[in-house]
Amino acid sequence: MLTLAIIKPDAVQRGRAGNILAHLESQGFVLRAVRMTRLTKSEAQAFYEVHKDRPFYASLVEFMTSAPCIPLVLEREDAVAHLRTVIGATDPAEAEEGTIRKLHAESKERNAIHASDSPENAVREVGFFFSEAERQRISA
Ligand code: CMP
Repeated sequence: MLTLAIIKPDAVQRGRAGNILAHLESQGFVLRAVRMTRLTKSEAQAFYEVHKDRPFYASLVEFMTSAPCIPLVLEREDAVAHLRTVIGATDPAEAEEGTIRKLHAESKERNAIHASDSPENAVREVGFFFSEAERQRISA
């Protein structure tokens, strides 16, 4: 099973990307695709459209466009649920010890990593960042 993660701009800028990748691999995730991109405003707005009425939406879009991020396609049994456990709660203050957000996040917004929250969203989010040709290569 595949899921999508994004190493967010805060973690990339603080030099945590390699550490986070190693953490993911240590938890049994296999890296199937990777990009580095700087999201445009319209891309960030579209990716987080589900949150468009939330008070933090404008700030979230600003943060996600502030520097490059690293979208990843990861494979593992029960990948979606397992990745959510490995990254920890949205707010690092509430995240379990040893989770990626506990180790690397600065705040509820600047929280180091994103992970798809359902298998349906994993499909949507992989499609957001990776072309049809790349998805065919991944599943070949
Ligand atoms: P993510 O898993 O990418 O999904 C939505 C993002 O919105 C979340 O991580 C945080 O970066 C951000 N977010 C969620 N809740 C808040 C909040 N209360 N205040 C600021 N940012 C938030």
